[in-house]
Amino acid sequence: MIEIAPSILAADLADLAGAARLAESGGADLLHCDVMDGHFVPNLTFGPPVLAALARHTHLPLDVHLMVEEPGRLLADYLRIRPARLCFHQEAAVHHDRLLAAVRAEGVRPGLALNPSTPVEVLVDVLPACDFVLLMSVNPGFGGQTFLPRVLDKARRLATMIRAAGLATTLEIDGGVGPDNAAEIARAGFRTLVAGSSIYAAPDPVAAISALRQAALEGLA
Ligand code: DX5
Ligand code: ZN
Repeated sequence: MIEIAPSILAADLADLAGAARLAESGGADLLHCDVMDGHFVPNLTFGPPVLAALARHTHLPLDVHLMVEEPGRLLADYLRIRPARLCFHQEAAVHHDRLLAAVRAEGVRPGLALNPSTPVEVLVDVLPACDFVLLMSVNPGFGGQTFLPRVLDKARRLATMIRAAGLATTLEIDGGVGPDNAAEIARAGFRTLVAGSSIYAAPDPVAAISALRQAALEGLA
C-alpha cells in the first residue's frame, strides 16, 4: 500500500553496503539510487559499476532515478544491473515511448520523472507506457532541499488523469519528504515515498523508516 524508498544519496557514500543494510533493517521496500551526470543536474553521483557493486550487497530491489541528459545512450548499462524500476526525466528525452518500451522489454518497470515546473498534463499520451510516474518535489540535483507543496496539486491532477484512462500507474514522490508531510503526501495519491535526509541524517535511520511509513499510513486511515 505504501512503499518506502530510502535514497542512498543522503547516506555515507563510502559505505553503500552499510546504507543498504540500514534500509533492510528498517523494512524498506526499495533502495532509491540517484544517478546524476553533472549536465541535466548540477551534480555528479555514481554510475553503473557502483550500482552493480551495490546490487551484489543487498536483496532490496533497486529504484534507479536517472537525472541525465540523453538517457537512451546509457539505458543498456543501467538495465544490465537488473533494477526493479527505472525512470528517466521526461525533460531529458524526446522518444519516450521507445525508451520506456526498451526498459519494459528487459523486465524492468518503466517510469517517467517530472521536474517541479513540468505540468503533469504533458504525460497524457504516454501514461499507458508508464508503470509509475515520479514527481520531483524539489528541483533535482541535491538532497536536503525544502519540499515544494504545489506537487500535491500536481499529484491530484495526475491521479484524475490515471483514473480517467483506467490505468494502474502509480505515483512516486521525491524531494523533501519526511514524517511531517508524509500524511498529506499519501492523501494526494502518492504510494512510493523516496526519502534521503529524513532517513539517513536521522539519529536512528532504522526507526526513521518505520516512522515515515506510519505517518504515511495515518494519512490514508
Ligand atoms: C534529488 C534526488 C532525491 C534526493 C532526495 O535530486 O532525486 O532522490 O535524494 O533527498 P531528500 O529526501 O533529502 O530531499
Ligand atoms: Zn531521486
